[in-house]
Parts: sequence; structure tokens; C-alpha cells
Amino acid sequence: MLPKIDPTTTKSWAKLSELSAKETSISDLLKNSNRLDQFTFDFSDFHFDFSKNNLSSDVMQSLINLAEECGLKEGIKAMFDGDPINETESRSVQHVALRAREKEEVEKELRKVKSFTEKLHSGDWTGYSGKKITDIVNIGIGGSDLGPKMITYALRPYWKNVTPHFISNVDAAQTVETLEGLNPETTLFIIASKTFTTQETITNALSARSWFLENGGTKETISKHFVAVSTNEPAVTEFGILSENMFEFWEWVGGRFSLWSVIGLSIACAVGFDEFEKLLQGAKEMDDHFRTTETSKNLPIISAMIGIWYNNFKGYNSMAILPYDHRLRYLPSYLQQVDMESNGKYVDRSGNEVNYQTGPIIWGEPGTNGQHAFYQLIHQGTKIIPCEFIGIVNPAHKFSDHHEKLLANFFAQSEALLTGKSRSQVLNEVDDEADEILINSKIFKGNRPSTSILIKELNPFNLGKLIAYYEHRVFTQGLIWNIFSFDQWGVELGKQLSKPILKEIKENREGNHDHSTISLLKKFQSMRK
Ligand code: F6P
Repeated sequence: MLPKIDPTTTKSWAKLSELSAKETSISDLLKNSNRLDQFTFDFSDFHFDFSKNNLSSDVMQSLINLAEECGLKEGIKAMFDGDPINETESRSVQHVALRAREKEEVEKELRKVKSFTEKLHSGDWTGYSGKKITDIVNIGIGGSDLGPKMITYALRPYWKNVTPHFISNVDAAQTVETLEGLNPETTLFIIASKTFTTQETITNALSARSWFLENGGTKETISKHFVAVSTNEPAVTEFGILSENMFEFWEWVGGRFSLWSVIGLSIACAVGFDEFEKLLQGAKEMDDHFRTTETSKNLPIISAMIGIWYNNFKGYNSMAILPYDHRLRYLPSYLQQVDMESNGKYVDRSGNEVNYQTGPIIWGEPGTNGQHAFYQLIHQGTKIIPCEFIGIVNPAHKFSDHHEKLLANFFAQSEALLTGKSRSQVLNEVDDEADEILINSKIFKGNRPSTSILIKELNPFNLGKLIAYYEHRVFTQGLIWNIFSFDQWGVELGKQLSKPILKEIKENREGNHDHSTISLLKKFQSMRK
């Protein structure tokens, strides 16, 4: 069980409220000669620089005290011990056990993944006409899509001889677009769904099966082209997939934490089992760090507590994730689910409504693209957006000029956010006739916070560490906010309401809704061809 402590009742919360009244300058904080010792960390191939955040050592110390007062250490122990900390679903939360590799059931499934991917890559697993599989299509959504897709594209240089594709949306436009370029003889579908009841996934799986049957496949050869990843064997068999072609995982693996389980089958198909294992090893290294390192040096905890400072004491309610790497382009959307589905909650662990902020809005885009889109607001908007920059030191390509330009931008952006541009600097730049409007528009106030993470190279091992860092940050923040991070009741209502509406649409009749929804549905029916 997790502790149930209202964070606002702690001494540290009161202290932090007091400290938050004082305006501080990050540039001034950086003048302290100990700043870098306290706020930068080397961790194997990583360098974390938290020094450009707007908080003093006193604030950091109070945040560490807050973590202690809220029972973080006990919470971490409870998760690693496999306690049923997902209380509203009566489940334990054991994605860390998938990386620890101590459970025989986990090993058994991994052996199955190994043998399957080896057969796929060697060409021993063929399609119905005897041809080698050239393309795999993962059909899943949410945690059964975002994690595998993000990792697979991040590991593009490691791809073997099978091209991965991902279908998630119930919008058939994505299905049609994906299937257009594929040959059923050489395509294998992975139907990935923890519950195997998700509307989008089952609809797409049925359409993929029809496409297969209409284009040369037969009922007898479905088993060569469809495999499933799920916890729900009866539903998988009912769909027509043989249980020997099902990869199993367990209810103690949350959907958004499941890429480490057989939900990662598409990753292993793309990059090979050995690289998939390295991903697990990397995550395990971060797990060990999180479980055993003292709070003041614990990377996910420091990062989480800085986020709490911004969200709860400074009123900064969003956070930008800015990977300076095209291969990490799906990281922001993946993190949106991990963070916002986990911590977007207003009911606390005692069932009461909280009177403080919980999960921030997570968003972002890779650099440098974002610079030409929304950075204007980050630099000169009325909102303060803490940014997390991620830079890869050694790229997998040989275009060093591109990479130096990319990284120059990576360094320049956090510097610009910090230092800004003063009136006198602007005056030195503009000609004498420049009016006040132009001068004021060119001033940057600066003092805008950021964290920079430098990673030696983007390999499976390091990627595993990076993702585990985020998972533990989310866990830590949810623990402090006294909410349940591992359920997701907030996604249910919309799903429920869509069922009668679907029926009404199909039967072309009106149901019982609010005036606006009725009017929208009527408009839809009248505009429909
Ligand atoms: O709708 C939210 C959700 O339940 C996510 O938590 C989950 O990752 C996703 O749907 C997909 O669920 P499943 O893997 O059961 O299809």
C-alpha cells in the first residue's frame, strides 16, 4: 500500500510556499560556485544538467524533505515489492519486474519472442505462399502502440530485414494508407491489446483480416499472418488466433508501462531480440538507481521534485519535451500518455478531491522543428514553460555538419531562455530610428527554466534508461500528489457514451442528449452523403 499523506499538510509544503514568494534569478543562482556540483550529474552515458532551473539550494532541500515527509521511500519499496499499489483496480504494478528478469513466467514469454523473431529474421517463418515476411504491422492503441512505435523509430539504425508499421486510429484513413503499400503474402500482423476488447484495435484487426482474405489469404493461412499480444486468451482465440500464436502478459503490467513486456514484440521484430534485451537492461540500470540512490542524487526524484516546485508553487502548469533528435520524434506523444494518463487526476488516495494542482500538460516536438513553430511563445509568451532539452552527442549518421548545427541550436535555446536579451543589447543592435514598439518587441526577459540531458548515443541500452527515468519521475510525482497513478478511470466516460451514439448513427435516429449534442448529430446526419 502507498502512504496516504496530503502533501499540503506537511511542514515542507508550508516552507516551500514561503520560499515561493521570493523572486529569484537563475543567472544569479548560477553565479554560485557550487551550483554545478549540486545540480549536474553524470550517470553512465548521460549528463543531466538541472542547473538552469529556477530554484535555490534551499528550495531543493525543502523539496527533498517533502519527498521524505510524503513517504516516497516507502512508496518506492511498495512498488518494487509488488504490493497492490494500483488500489482501485486491486493490482500490483510490476513493469520493473519485466526488467529485473527474475520471474519464470516473464522468461518463458521472452524465450517465445526470441524464437519467433529469430524465425522471422532467418526466413524460417514464411507467409502462405512460402515467401519471407518483409513487413510487420502492429495494430494497437495507447500503451499498445505509443511505446513500441516510439522505441522502434528511435532505434531506426538497428532495424533488420523487416519493416515495421503501426496502425492505431479507428479512422480507417490510417489503415488504408498503411495497407496500400503492403503485400498480404509477406505481411504479418501483430494484434496488440492488453484487454483485447479495445474498439479501435478490434475494428482495425477485423479490417486487416478482411483485407488479407480478400487479397489471396485464406482462413487456413491466417495463422501464418496474424499473431496476438494480450492478457486475454479467450478473446484472442475467439478472434481466430491460435493460442500458440499468442504472446502473453499479465494484469500487473499497466498498458502505458507495457513496452517492456511482449507488447514490445514489434520492437523485437524490428531490431532483433538481442537489442530488445539491451533496452530492458538499460531500464534495469535506471530502476536500480531509482531504488537505491539517496534522494539528493536520485535523477528521477530530482526531476520530479523540480516539476512539483513549478506546478504547485510557481504556477507553471505545462512542460515541453524537446528532443533534439528526429529519431525521438514520438517521445513527446508517448510521454503524454505515460504522464497525463497517470497523473491527470483530482481524486486523492483517500477518495477526496485535491485542492492543489496535479499532472502538468505535457507536450513537445523535436528540435529544431519546434523552434520554427512554438518557441516564440516559450521565449516571449506570457506563460512560463519549463523545457526539457534532450541532445544526443554522437549521431548514427555521418553528416557531422548537420549534427553540429543541430546541437548548436540545442545549446543556444536553453542559453537564450536563461539569459534573454536586455534593452541595452537591443539598442546596440537596432538603428537609431528604431521606435519603442520595435525595441520592446526585441527584448527577451530571460530567466526561463530548462533542464538539459546529454546522451552519448541513442542505443537501446541508453533508450531503456531514458524511458525508465521518465516512468519513475511520473511515479514520484503521483506519490507526492497522493493520487493513484496506475489507473485511468478518466478514459471510460467518453468510451461509454460513444456506444449509444454509434447505435443512433447507424439507425439514423435521435437519442437522449443535451441540446448541443443533439443538434450536432442532426447536422451530421443532414450533411452526410
Ligand atoms: O483508453 C485507455 C487505455 O485503456 C490505455 O490505458 C491503454 O494503453 C489503451 O487503452 C489500450 O488498451 P488495450 O491494450 O487493452 O487495447
